Amino acid sequence: MAMKVLMINGSPHPNGNTATALNEMVKIFNAHDIATEIVTVGNQNLRGCIACRACTKTGKCVFDDLVNATAPQFEQADAVVVASPVYYASANGTLISFLDRLFFSAKFDKTMKVGASIAVGRRGGLTATYDELNKYFAIAGMPIASGQYWNGVHGREIGEASQDAEGLQQMRTLANNMVFLMKSIALGKERYGLPVRETPTFTNFVR
Ligand SMILES: Cc1cc2nc3c(=O)[nH]c(=O)nc-3n(C[C@H](O)[C@H](O)[C@H](O)COP(=O)(O)O)c2cc1C
Repeated sequence: MAMKVLMINGSPHPNGNTATALNEMVKIFNAHDIATEIVTVGNQNLRGCIACRACTKTGKCVFDDLVNATAPQFEQADAVVVASPVYYASANGTLISFLDRLFFSAKFDKTMKVGASIAVGRRGGLTATYDELNKYFAIAGMPIASGQYWNGVHGREIGEASQDAEGLQQMRTLANNMVFLMKSIALGKERYGLPVRETPTFTNFVR
């Protein structure tokens, strides 16, 4: 079956600098016959998690919006790229609301789906944003793909990212590494199966 990459764009601009970074990766995925879907999140009216835990029973978020619509795409994807414009040295707030709710409510097994994060900003806070986004993958058993630097593209006004030759090269390297990882994991699953998981122990350090 053809492989798929879900790409989540945290920018409010579907054709902004973050999209430029993602589109550079799309070229590589397409060259390897890997399908891509881009979901733009930053221009949507999305609220944060209210910790109602309804999803524990239903497997869906109580707010039936783009989060629930994206969950099946996530389930079917072999890899997920999350890209964000840098806002105050952090990811876009709407994206964080979206990711909190998506990762918390979508209960399917995410183990060995490849994850990659990208930060796009004018000047500073890119690595803090990159670290922040990688946390979602690391708690979900998702191997984090890396490239030749801490994935980041520079630009302020829309279109400027296309002038960042090094940043765009990072995107291509990252995409090529992801292709290798996705294919290797597919082979590994066939040959060895997924790792055996213990029943999770859940302590809160007060008892
Ligand atoms: C509210 C706000 C905060 C920002 N904070 C930062 C920042 O901390 N560091 C930085 O380098 N750029 C910052 N920027 C600039 C954006 O990250 C930059 O313009 C980026 O290219 C926008 O990506 P987009 O075109 O995909 O929306 C900020 C922009 C906005 C609107």
